[in-house]
Order: sequence, then C-alpha cells, then structure tokens
Amino acid sequence: TRVAILISGRGSNMVSLIEAARAPDFPAEIVLVLSNRPEAAGLARAAEAGIATQAIDHRAYPDRDGFDAALDAELRAAKVDLVCLAGFMRIFTPGFVEGWAGRMLNIHPSLLPLFKGTHTHARALEAGVRLHGCTVHYVVPELDAGPIVAQAAVPVRAGDDPDSLADRVIVQEHRLYPAALALVAGGKVRLEGDRVIFDAEAA
Ligand code: GRF
Repeated sequence: TRVAILISGRGSNMVSLIEAARAPDFPAEIVLVLSNRPEAAGLARAAEAGIATQAIDHRAYPDRDGFDAALDAELRAAKVDLVCLAGFMRIFTPGFVEGWAGRMLNIHPSLLPLFKGTHTHARALEAGVRLHGCTVHYVVPELDAGPIVAQAAVPVRAGDDPDSLADRVIVQEHRLYPAALALVAGGKVRLEGDRVIFDAEAA
C-alpha cells in the first residue's frame, strides 16, 4: 500500500508513521509527504528520512477547489493508495473527500465524537472529562465525523493544563496512528458504508 502523508506543521505524527513503516513487515510504504505550507518543519524531517516531499502552497490557488485539484493530481501521479492526514490544517471540498472515500485517514486529538474541531485539550478540561485521548478515523466531508478505526484513552490528571494534557495525548497519537495504519493497510479492517468492519467480524 502506497501511502502519502499530508502535514501543515512540525509533523510529529508523520515521523512516527515514517519510523513504523521502516519495519520490513509493515504493510505500507510511505511514498510521499505533502504540505500546504512550504515552510512546514515536517518537510525537512521527511526529506532527512529519504521520503519524497512536495509543498502545494494553498495561497497560490484562487479557491479551495483549485488547491484540492492540484493536490489530487499529485496524489494520483504518485499512485498513492491511501492518504494519512497528520496535523493537516485545511478543510477539503466534499468532492475531494468523496474521491478518496475509504482511502483517507486522520488523527484527531480527542475521543471522537467528543470535541470535534480545534482546541480539544482546553475544551476537555473545560468540560471536566476524566478521560481524554485521540482517535484515528476515516475522513468524510463532515469535519472530524468519519467512521472510527482506533482510539487511545488518556486520563486527565489534577493540575493538568492544556499543554500537560496535550503532551500525554501526543505520546498516544504516536503509538495509535502507526497501529491504525497497519490495520487498514494490512486489510485487517475495511469500511462498509459508515461502519468499520474488523476482520474478526468479517470471518
Ligand atoms: C496533533 O495533536 C494531531 O492530533 C493534530 O495536529 C497536532 C499536531 O500534529 N492533528 P503533528 O505534530 O504535526 O503530527
């Protein structure tokens, strides 16, 4: 399975996916890292790891459709099978998302469906939840709403602030995303409509 990782920033989740994919038995190959921001620090980290990189500056396009079309062309040119969003901070047009239905994953720093959107750690503390965490899900046109592949829970501790909570969640993200990608790329899960079917159920 040929995988492209899309980033907008430091790319710490990208690094954990690249590292995991080094294992000879990992069922996916990271073939491309793309960013909407040419200055994204993750691009240099991908290049250091020997992965092809490309920046598609969203400011160079008149509208969302134009950017998404350019991105789609690059992904298809690289014969990408699966897209992993990792700290990618743009919202796609529904058309682009539908073109990658069942072939695009995202990691979100909350236990979805709680806390869709941004500032999830502050909102979790505000809500007084005792369990927080992260979720890998298939991407659908509605933001942070796609079928869930995997989750990791992180207890909220007394005295936590958004940064201390984020620091514990990100550690779980770096464990969860490679595991979730291995499940999807390894054919252990598949999407049927809006349900994720695990092979145990499929047997
Ligand atoms: C992480 O919290 C991730 O869940 C969210 O963006 C943040 C930064 O990710 N999608 P990364 O360090 O750029 O991978």
